[in-house]
Amino acid sequence: MDFGIAVGTLLAFCLTYVILKSGKMWRRARSLPPGPTPLPFIGNLHQVRPWDITKSLMKLHKKYGSVYTVHLGQEPHVVLCGYQAVKEALIDNSEIFGERGFYPVFYNFTKGDGIAFSKGEKWKRLRRFALHILRDFGMGKRSIEERIQEEAQYLVEEFRKTNMSPCNPITLVGRAVSNVICSVVFGNRFDYEDKNFTLLVSCIQNNFTIMSKISGVLYNFYSDLMDYLPGPHKDIFTNFEKLTDFIEEKVKKNQESLDPNNPRDYVDCFLIKMEKEKNNSENFFNMNTLVMSSLILFFGGTETISLTLRYGFLILMKYPAIAAKVQEEIDHVIGRHRMPSYEDRTRMPYTTAVLHEIQRYADVIPLSLTHELTADINFRGYNLHKGTQVTLLMTSVHRDPTQYQDPDKFDPTNFLDANGRFKKREALMPFSAGKRICLGESLAMTELFIYFTTILQNFSFKSLIPSEKLDLTPLGVGLGNIPIPYEICMIPR
Ligand code: HEM
Repeated sequence: MDFGIAVGTLLAFCLTYVILKSGKMWRRARSLPPGPTPLPFIGNLHQVRPWDITKSLMKLHKKYGSVYTVHLGQEPHVVLCGYQAVKEALIDNSEIFGERGFYPVFYNFTKGDGIAFSKGEKWKRLRRFALHILRDFGMGKRSIEERIQEEAQYLVEEFRKTNMSPCNPITLVGRAVSNVICSVVFGNRFDYEDKNFTLLVSCIQNNFTIMSKISGVLYNFYSDLMDYLPGPHKDIFTNFEKLTDFIEEKVKKNQESLDPNNPRDYVDCFLIKMEKEKNNSENFFNMNTLVMSSLILFFGGTETISLTLRYGFLILMKYPAIAAKVQEEIDHVIGRHRMPSYEDRTRMPYTTAVLHEIQRYADVIPLSLTHELTADINFRGYNLHKGTQVTLLMTSVHRDPTQYQDPDKFDPTNFLDANGRFKKREALMPFSAGKRICLGESLAMTELFIYFTTILQNFSFKSLIPSEKLDLTPLGVGLGNIPIPYEICMIPR
């Protein structure tokens, strides 16, 4: 065939493809809530900047209101904004808004297995089982609290070793937090210098960072194309493979020493369940769901808490008067020598308010995880169809001016009443809400309180730069809001 004819045929083919694709995209867009006009292939990339996705979506919220459509890549997403709309969806219509949506960067690896990224009956069974086991192993009970208290003391010792010299808290805090989930899933903590453990924690931290930056966000928009391109997003899958190897190795060890009458941890319980269910025609308990569920517990349970604590330290370096007031309450209620317990929070309204305000202000998971509709629904005048992808703009809940007087200001009085008592706010949803609400909420709250109070009981924070110059703007804004790396001096009290 003549070269010119070949090129012409190819161009005609590409053009037809683009027209068909665009036609389909625009037809679909017509039946969805209004939003910026998408372009073929790129969707709304010209309005939604991948390095600044939350800010871009907040800007569109101002223009289009509480419900609008945006094409992330070629996939239309209905974006819900502000406390009222998010509550109406996740809480008032929890069944319909409660399915997991498509999140390519996780799907590529999990293939829809494990607690967080499975759907339907499989998800229900895996989630119920995990909650049951986590509770039995002490989630919200004393035994896990003791493990957190013990780990908090290890962390204090490690910070003491810094001898007041500047340190980035990311490594130590990550290891301390990860050790708690290690005790639940594997039944033991690790030494902070253990080579396999440090690798595990750094893989989690690296993946969280990449997913929160441009290449992770772009992967979610254009996964088909990105699979063929080099870049940091490739490391995500290598890191997940390393984590899987670590987990598989641990599972093998558990299998070798398993006593069905005396389960030691989550992995043992899962192995026993696998054996029980092996003849069940609808069996969701297999090696793959065990490995993926353990991996998600690690991933979900490490960087989220570590990030909140690191943001908290940074905020308190910027506002030393607030830190001093928390320390005053700690000294008054707990003293300098007794280990803080979760029960103490009931007598510490100011500290509790500061922690809640840190969660609101840091807003560590600004877009939650994508949801999907399980049925058609008329929502706020729009007919939305089963299977529609829903993005929850949590930042717009946490910065909702109808809920908070001055939402861009860090202000613990948001969570205090006129008498200085702690005041709960419905418009605080760091763990999301409804059917898919974070499975680790109570474990996370216990950890946050105990780590935060133990550290402030033992140290004051000193910044290397004047506090007014500390920048609280997040660095990464995709999966997570990551604070700009900083150094802190831990000054023993
Ligand atoms: C401050 C700490 C944490 C924050 C801010 C956080 C936040 C979230 C958010 C926003 C979601 C998505 C919910 C949705 O789809 O609507 C989620 C899901 C999840 N989180 Fe957390 N999380 C934290 C700690 C933890 C811990 C400690 C664990 C492990 C025990 C954990 C395990 C999970 C799991 C398994 C899911 C998936 C739930 C499902 O799909 O049913 N998270 N988390």
